[in-house]
Amino acid sequence: MLTAAVRTLSGLSGNFTPPETMPTSHSLQDGFIDNHRSNDDAIRVRAELGAGLLAPHAFTSPKYLYDALGSKLFEAICELPEYYPTRTEAAIFDAHLSEIAESAGRGTTLIDLGAGNCAKAAKLFPTLLPAQYVPVDISAEFLRDAVNNLRQRFPHIEMTGIGLDFSGTLNLPESVRRDQRLFFYPGSSIGNFTPQEALAFLRRVRKACQPDGRADGGILIGVDLVKDKAILDAAYDDALGVTAAFNLNLLRHLNHLLDADFDVRDWRHRGFFNPESSRIEMHLEARSNVTVQWKGGRRSFDRGERIHTENSYKYTQESFVMLLEQAEFGEIQVWTDPRGWFMVCHARAA
Ligand code: AVJ
Repeated sequence: MLTAAVRTLSGLSGNFTPPETMPTSHSLQDGFIDNHRSNDDAIRVRAELGAGLLAPHAFTSPKYLYDALGSKLFEAICELPEYYPTRTEAAIFDAHLSEIAESAGRGTTLIDLGAGNCAKAAKLFPTLLPAQYVPVDISAEFLRDAVNNLRQRFPHIEMTGIGLDFSGTLNLPESVRRDQRLFFYPGSSIGNFTPQEALAFLRRVRKACQPDGRADGGILIGVDLVKDKAILDAAYDDALGVTAAFNLNLLRHLNHLLDADFDVRDWRHRGFFNPESSRIEMHLEARSNVTVQWKGGRRSFDRGERIHTENSYKYTQESFVMLLEQAEFGEIQVWTDPRGWFMVCHARAA
């Protein structure tokens, strides 16, 4: 991933001739860089997915939940009464907006990791007044539409959308300003990493926010907190079945990416809090004995056997602040809601 990404990005900054394997639509003219459409990437994706599906306990990375429909289903999840994180985080931002903006600073280069529909960042624009907005998302098509809409609303903010799997690299193209980089990572997406991976990721963010030692805007991050198991269970297994659809949609995406023959009807959604590891687990469970074939592999699943599709780690305030400190962030500020369900932190490279 890393080498391919670096090659593509440096290619884009100079006199850029698109390689044969890249569709030409990925021009810079519309301020959008789609960084993961090359043949090499498709091969890597297939290898990664195949290996996960063939592992003793089959698993897939949660990033594959987000094709165009998956991103829409996630938007729908955020509207559910049971799914409190989005709403609670928004309430924290509403209640403490000026203080948060004060801490983060104005005129920043706002880099939005996993921007999705860009709605969360857009709400901050009038107060945060960023000099440049750089939304990054793995779901490039979805992001492109969102950025185009946003440009109409905020024509004075420079915007560079980037279609990129940032779990692989935080090397940003030349067009991203280097001054006062503020990484925005809301929604508790950090929960998809194990705490160890989260630490490594935070360290990379800390390095990326001060390229060649420049003053940084730091990190503005939303983190979901440990709470009553019943509340957590309901948030990831809602009555309407939207989270189930979101999880099952992964199989359609796999059919597309791998030329696989998953039948969505053969599988059911499982989503629950595992208190021992302080994480939500999502799985897809075979309803009967099934055999699945794809380009490069095949596997039989017994009835009840699962594919582990997502972890969503929940922190305590103290444990997450410690993680930020271990990643060498300082000046840590914390805002939370009255119930203590969710936290927003701002911190700077120490
Ligand atoms: C986008 C990773 C923050 O873990 O709550 C929502 C994804 N999965 N419902 C989360 C998700 C099932 C979400 N994150």
